[in-house]
Amino acid sequence: MSRFVIVGAGAVGSALAAALTEQEQSDRRQTLLIARGRALEHLRENPLLLRTVTGDRRIPLRVASIEDATLRVGDVLVLAVKAQHVAQAASDLAWRPVFDGDAEVGTAAEVLPIVTTQNGIDAEETVARWFAHVVATTVLIAARYTEVGEVRVGGRPYLGSALIGEPYAPTRVTRNAVDTVAAAWVAAGFAVRRTGEIGAVKATKLLHSVKNGLEVLAGDDEAKRQVGEALEAEARAVLEAAGRPIADRGVLVIDPDQRGGDADLGVGQGTQSTWQSFARGADSHEIDHLNGEIARLARLHRVEAPVNTTLQALLGAAGQRGGGIDLPGLDRLTALLPAGVAG
Ligand SMILES: NC(=O)c1ccc[n+]([C@@H]2O[C@H](COP(=O)([O-])OP(=O)(O)OC[C@H]3O[C@@H](n4cnc5c(N)ncnc54)[C@H](OP(=O)(O)O)[C@@H]3O)[C@@H](O)[C@H]2O)c1
Repeated sequence: MSRFVIVGAGAVGSALAAALTEQEQSDRRQTLLIARGRALEHLRENPLLLRTVTGDRRIPLRVASIEDATLRVGDVLVLAVKAQHVAQAASDLAWRPVFDGDAEVGTAAEVLPIVTTQNGIDAEETVARWFAHVVATTVLIAARYTEVGEVRVGGRPYLGSALIGEPYAPTRVTRNAVDTVAAAWVAAGFAVRRTGEIGAVKATKLLHSVKNGLEVLAGDDEAKRQVGEALEAEARAVLEAAGRPIADRGVLVIDPDQRGGDADLGVGQGTQSTWQSFARGADSHEIDHLNGEIARLARLHRVEAPVNTTLQALLGAAGQRGGGIDLPGLDRLTALLPAGVAG
């Protein structure tokens, strides 16, 4: 029976681990959550507090550090760290031995499937440096991790949704992993759809994610909406110049009845993943893999991306000063809009 080894005890990783652990008695599958620092210390001694629209529950999780974890044949690795931590986590995992009983049968990079969950479009390429069997997901969830030991998820009727696919040449291992993930995540309360165009789906989600950084800036909603439109239009033009396929926006809707955010839980628009990093005062954030991905592709393909590069620069500098929210700088972005727009 396969086991999920989820790396990263943050919003997505903890929510997934909790939902899968709650399912364990019915499907006998096990889940191990790889954590570090204060989260690891806390979850070793205490259950996770999962807060959802159906109420709060405390769920004891199996936790370990990467170094403590013994990997086994049949494990499915799920990378739920932020994009800026993907390379480190993948390289730390890659050459760990994998056991079948007492026998060592190879390394994680050679033997096990690895499933990415990151926003942006570079995580799969990064893990492919080490891993032979890469599966990609686009995760649509309104999850909040701002306090150690607690995760809030606003979704209803599903906890969240995911699109899953094989970004590179399929292997027997990736095919099995897609089947395993789809079945287990559905049983755990997610809406899941397989797709043959996961790269294009991730590009579509990036058109949304390039606006995430606006949530940490002070300023009025209408100005942010107009800057957001400019960020998205510019990102689309850059992705097209780079020859990156983009799926129709509708592909991200798996069930039209699904609602993500929940005001009472404080999750959803306004407090998404990047906002959470800045609110925690985390010393790193994902902007360099969202707006920074647009900046990188613009430079490689000799086109301009002034709105995305300015937002990246604003938040990059703010992050170095320790983060925080309601930050100044929106005027630098509105100044880039055509005259007469957003003043
Ligand atoms: N939050 C959402 O609602 C949401 C929705 C859709 C997609 N996403 C995407 O999902 C991905 C994960 O985001 P998130 O919001 O879950 O991030 P997060 O809350 O910051 O959680 C990431 C966790 O990974 C941990 N981590 C990093 N490197 C590690 C390592 N080597 N070993 C063990 N733990 C490690 C971090 O620990 P430290 O705290 O010590 O750094 C952190 O606890 C991102 O790409 C995000 O854009 C998020």
